[in-house]
Amino acid sequence: MARLVLPYISFIVFLLLMCMATQPGTGTIHSDEVKALGEIAEQLGKKDWNINVEQCKNDLSWLTPKLDWKPPYNNSLFCDCSYPDSVCHVVALVLKGQDLDGKLPRSLVKLHYLTYLNLNRNFLSGNIPHEWASTKLEFLTLSVNNLSGPIPGFLGNITALRYMSIENNLFSGMVPLELGKLVSLENLILSANNLSGELPFALTKLTKLTELRISSNNFTGRIPDFFRSWKQLEKLEIQASGFEGPIPSNISILSNLTELRISDLVGGGSKFPNLSSMKGMERLMLKSCNISGPITESISDMTQLQTLDLSFNRLDGKIPDFHGLSRLKYLFLTSNLLTGPIPEWIKDKDNTHPVDLSYNNLSERSAPSCRDNLNLFKSFSGMDNLSLSECLKDSPCSKDYYEVHINCGGKAKTVGNIKYEADYHPAGPASFVWKENWGFSSSGRFWDLNTTGNDYVANNVSILKMNESELYTSARLSPLSITYYARCLANGPYKLKLHFAEIVIRDNRSFYSLGRRIFDIYVQEKLVLEDFDIENAAPGVDKAVVKEYKANVTNNVLMIRFFWAGKGTTDAPKRGNYGPLISAISVENDFSLPNDGKMKIVVGAVVVVLLLIFMILGILWWKGCLGGRKSRENELKGLDLQTGFFTYRQIKAATDNFNAANKLGEGGFGSVYKGILSDGTVIAVKQLSSKSRQGSREFVNEIGMISGLQHPNLVRLYGCCIEGKQLLLVYEYMENNSLAHVLFGPANGWLKLDWPARQKICAGIAKGLAFLHEESTLKIVHRDIKSTNVLLDRDLNPKISDFGLAKLDEEENTHISTRIAGTIGYMAPEYALWGHLTYKADVYSFGVVALEIIAGKNNMKYRPNQNFVCLLDWAIVLQQRGDLMELVDPELGSDFSKEEALRMIKVALLCTNPSPVLRPVMTAVVNMLEGRIVIDELTRGPSIYGNEWGFEALRDQYGESSRPKSMESQSLTQSSNATWIGSSSTSAHNIYSTNQNE
Ligand SMILES: *[C@@H]1O[C@H](CO)[C@@H](O)[C@H](O)[C@H]1NC(C)=O
Repeated sequence: MARLVLPYISFIVFLLLMCMATQPGTGTIHSDEVKALGEIAEQLGKKDWNINVEQCKNDLSWLTPKLDWKPPYNNSLFCDCSYPDSVCHVVALVLKGQDLDGKLPRSLVKLHYLTYLNLNRNFLSGNIPHEWASTKLEFLTLSVNNLSGPIPGFLGNITALRYMSIENNLFSGMVPLELGKLVSLENLILSANNLSGELPFALTKLTKLTELRISSNNFTGRIPDFFRSWKQLEKLEIQASGFEGPIPSNISILSNLTELRISDLVGGGSKFPNLSSMKGMERLMLKSCNISGPITESISDMTQLQTLDLSFNRLDGKIPDFHGLSRLKYLFLTSNLLTGPIPEWIKDKDNTHPVDLSYNNLSERSAPSCRDNLNLFKSFSGMDNLSLSECLKDSPCSKDYYEVHINCGGKAKTVGNIKYEADYHPAGPASFVWKENWGFSSSGRFWDLNTTGNDYVANNVSILKMNESELYTSARLSPLSITYYARCLANGPYKLKLHFAEIVIRDNRSFYSLGRRIFDIYVQEKLVLEDFDIENAAPGVDKAVVKEYKANVTNNVLMIRFFWAGKGTTDAPKRGNYGPLISAISVENDFSLPNDGKMKIVVGAVVVVLLLIFMILGILWWKGCLGGRKSRENELKGLDLQTGFFTYRQIKAATDNFNAANKLGEGGFGSVYKGILSDGTVIAVKQLSSKSRQGSREFVNEIGMISGLQHPNLVRLYGCCIEGKQLLLVYEYMENNSLAHVLFGPANGWLKLDWPARQKICAGIAKGLAFLHEESTLKIVHRDIKSTNVLLDRDLNPKISDFGLAKLDEEENTHISTRIAGTIGYMAPEYALWGHLTYKADVYSFGVVALEIIAGKNNMKYRPNQNFVCLLDWAIVLQQRGDLMELVDPELGSDFSKEEALRMIKVALLCTNPSPVLRPVMTAVVNMLEGRIVIDELTRGPSIYGNEWGFEALRDQYGESSRPKSMESQSLTQSSNATWIGSSSTSAHNIYSTNQNE
């Protein structure tokens, strides 16, 4: 029998292979290159790369990768199949963020057609092999790796090179003069290495350079004056390069510059350089360059200017009028000698862009009333104490303090008998935050990073095991300078303990370990520690380092400043990762208290009284008078509540006595008001009706849940207020109300959501949910995901709110909930019908919200005609008709990404599958939405628990319980799996599988 069948099968296989070979758009890679790819994989240390399975993408648009081309996948090959014999040649190789820990592959030279190589973010070591000299690479990037040794001169032989980046490695020695042979080079990025010496004069031959970045190295001598040859430069970055000032006056030639960043020059200073030809400048940083004299007026002509940082110089005179710079978003004039008044355009209440004027000599009379994002810490002359702004004048010291303990970036914590105060203000580019007796001034923004609002606080990513680990789970970050100060201190000597632990950079064999964080520490404005590297000092990550200092307080104020002087890396583990990190600060008097004797007597008396009280309570309890009643307060304590507490008076003042004009809306259990705290922080206050028991339960739930959770896509709880019958929750204020409001609000007047905003919102909600389900320490089912529970901040970042119904995942949880809570139209069927509650219920609700985002219509209210119950219903019909794009909100016109829209629809339909097991987990959803996993169209499961076709495979694909370690590295295998699960797929693989089953 078998003998008869065998030739038959072979024939089918043969036919299939023929089909594959002739199918348009799926050529095969030249066999020599397949072999070379095998060698390359081995040399790189790539184990899971099955080149036979990989089909070389030959989309024509990839054939000539431009210099600014962003590869759509982190792990891919691109081929040119336009050769006569229909053989494909590899032209681009991208293996990014794969944590490959081998060497740079010698066999690369065997890919004769390769022009594009991207091996960013791996753990590759060694140097560049000399074989590469004969490649035809045009684009080469090896950023964020562990490569070392000198930059080899033979790189000069790759004369086709147009882009070269070796940023964030350990290359050392001089830049070889052979690089001068790379006359086609347009982008040269050498930042964050250990390069030394001077730049060779031969580099003046690189006349096509448009981008040069040489920051954070150990170069010596003056900044080379090669600008006459580099007239094409558009981007120039020389931060903490080791070069000495002054800035060569020839820089004025560079009229094409759109970005200029020079910082931390040692040596000679100068007047303000002539920048008058640079009319197209967008981002200008001349920080810590020893520039004196007035700020040049020509800056007012840079009409495209968005960011201006002239901090830490010796600039004097008045602040020029930048009023006309309509695009200016960030202005840093921190630490200069500027005088005169604060101009009206800065004081303008409507100006919400961050402006940092801290540490200057401005005229005190011009002090404005406080506004957010205007930092006036020590801005004024003539105030010899703390030159604080107007805002604090009405707050004289109420008493002498002898100690201050701050848990930087975190919540209040008690360690031993020391109580560390909470410090979780989100801070920002120009913030000045204060409490009664301490505060901080934070200046600077993370360049090259899209601001998320959580950039200034770091949270631990792994479990910390050091002593007092509570202090290190969160820390404050600063991209430039942060000053913590304690005021109202009794004068005298003090002991200082600064607690550090590196909780962001990792120490594994991964690019996560390739960051180098270096910063300086000042106490009372004196440099006490230069080039501090926490990881080196600990040594290791997640380990505590405590630095102790003594300081003398003479005017009741103690200041500790952390400063980034441009050194170390800025790109690992993630872009924008640099600058000081401080976990906790402890300041204690180093002298005996004035009336120590009396204190002892007082303490003694208190102890006696307390003992008496305990005895009486004990007797009462024993008699049963106090048993059984569990007060609300107790319940709260049981939750280990550590959020901030507000007084009712504070909240009343903030909301103008709950003025109806400040009412934002009516929630299920009470009203929500907008308020402004005395420090200018805008808040939303949720007032829970104290009568309903439900309200109190919700209250307890919500505080317990959110106070432990911090994520950019979860709404942030600042604290609460419990006084008498009042139960109030204090949240961050969200400028743009809820997603429902924006999506379904009145047609005119409300801001329109364009496609990029919708994509961002959808992915953001998915990330927030992924965090709740899979990443946070408490695993939570939200239970009530809907568009009214997604709030939008000023930049339309989505944040999930309302955890009133959330449910913790407890081990013994039976997942059967007797009380169904949730909202009609969003509830998963298994939950609505049988109370069966799992994370997949949230996934379903998310799917509904995603549909609403695409369609701009409310799931419940939309009925194209009587045949449809809701939007989802209609979507399913459109799917069967193959008419999915019909769903897209007509408001968008044709102004949207078809690919992203289709992706989002498919994800929405996958998530709303009636069968929970067929719904993906949220991390997979995030990866699908962002295009890292291929999404497959499914037929909808016929029954809710049906063991339908494809069940097991799906479980494998989406990881029912465990999340794949690296989604990115698996995307290849996943996409090949996806093809055979799919019902609509017609790939050879699929046919083969089905035939085999027959
Ligand atoms: C680079 O080119 C030079 C001259 O063309 C040649 O002598 C040298 O061997 C080449 N270097 C390598 C490593 O191939």
